[in-house]
Amino acid sequence: MADSPTVALLGGGMLGQALLEGALASGEWPAGAFRVTTGREESARRVRERFGVACGTDDANAVEGAGLVLLCVKPRTLPSVCRAIAPALAAGVPVVSCAAGVPLADLRSWLPESAAVIRAMPNLPCRVRSGMTVLCPAEGVPEEATARAETFFQSLGRVRRLGEEHLDTVTGLSASGPAFLYLVLESLTDGGVMAGLPRGAAMELAAQTTLGAARMVLETGEHPAALKDAVTTPAGCTISALLKLEDGRLRSVLARAVEEAARAAAGLRPQTRSGGPASPAAAAPPEEAP
Ligand SMILES: NC(=O)c1ccc[n+]([C@@H]2O[C@H](COP(=O)([O-])OP(=O)(O)OC[C@H]3O[C@@H](n4cnc5c(N)ncnc54)[C@H](OP(=O)(O)O)[C@@H]3O)[C@@H](O)[C@H]2O)c1
Repeated sequence: MADSPTVALLGGGMLGQALLEGALASGEWPAGAFRVTTGREESARRVRERFGVACGTDDANAVEGAGLVLLCVKPRTLPSVCRAIAPALAAGVPVVSCAAGVPLADLRSWLPESAAVIRAMPNLPCRVRSGMTVLCPAEGVPEEATARAETFFQSLGRVRRLGEEHLDTVTGLSASGPAFLYLVLESLTDGGVMAGLPRGAAMELAAQTTLGAARMVLETGEHPAALKDAVTTPAGCTISALLKLEDGRLRSVLARAVEEAARAAAGLRPQTRSGGPASPAAAAPPEEAP
C-alpha cells in the first residue's frame, strides 16, 4: 500500500509475529512500514532475520513518527511500555493495545490525552489472514483513528467492533478459542487414526472438515443446529456419534471453557500491591495471557 502509515509494533512475540506475518503476506503492508521491538536484543535479531523488518529494543524510538502503534506486550509490561513511549507519541496517533484484561481507563491514564487509545483483541489465525479481531475505541477517539486500526486488522481477517464490557468474553472465545479447537482437531485426528487412517490423512480430513463447517456457518448464515440436522440421517452413523458426544457433555464442557477463559481474562489487569490499578512504575507480578 503506497500510503500505508509507519506501524510501530511493540512486542514481537507470539501475537506480534502473527500480526506481522499476516500483514506482510497481505501485500498491503511492506516490510519497510514496520518498526518492531522486543524486550531482548536476542529476540530482536531473530525477528529481523525472519521477517526482514526493522526490530530493536527501543520502544520510544520505534513510535517516533509512527502513524499506528500496536502494543503486543504482556499485560504486566504494558504500564512501563506506555510510560516509555508517552513523550514520543505524535498527537492523535492510534495506540492499539492487544493486551488481555487491561481496561481502556488504565491505558488512558498511562498515555497522553492526545493519543487515540483503542483496545483490540485479535487471535493467532491472523498469521494466515483468517483472524478474528474485535476493536473497541475509547470514548472520543476520532473515527479516522479507529478506521486506521481497522484497515490494518482487516488485512488479517475479520474485524468487528464491540463495547468494552464484552472484551473479556471475546478473549475467552475468539482469542483463546483456537487452542480449544486444536484440542478438538487433535481428538478427531486420533479418532481417524484409531479407526485405521494414516495420521497425515486423518489430520488433513479433520482440519479441512473444521474449516468447511466454519465457512458454512459464516457464508450461509444458517444456525449450526440446522446445519447439523442436514448431516444427520435417521438411524445413521452421525446421530449415533452425536449421542456419544452428548453423553460426554461436549457442549457444556466447551461452553464452560469459554466462560472460564473469560473469567481468567478479567483477572489479568496489572495490580499494585495495595490492590488498585498499576501506575506505570508499579506493576506487580502478573498473569500471562490470553
Ligand atoms: N498469544 C495470543 O494468542 C494472544 C491473542 C490475543 C492477545 N494477546 C495479547 O498479546 C500480548 C502478547 O502475548 P504473546 O502471547 O505474544 O506473548 P509473548 O509471546 O510472550 O510476547 C511478548 C513479547 O513482548 C516482548 N517484550 C517484553 N518487554 C518488552 C518491551 N519493554 N518492549 C517491547 N517488547 C517487549 C517480548 O520480547 P522478549 O521475548 O525479548 O522478552 C516478546 O516478544 C499479551 O498482552 C496478550 O494478552 C495474545
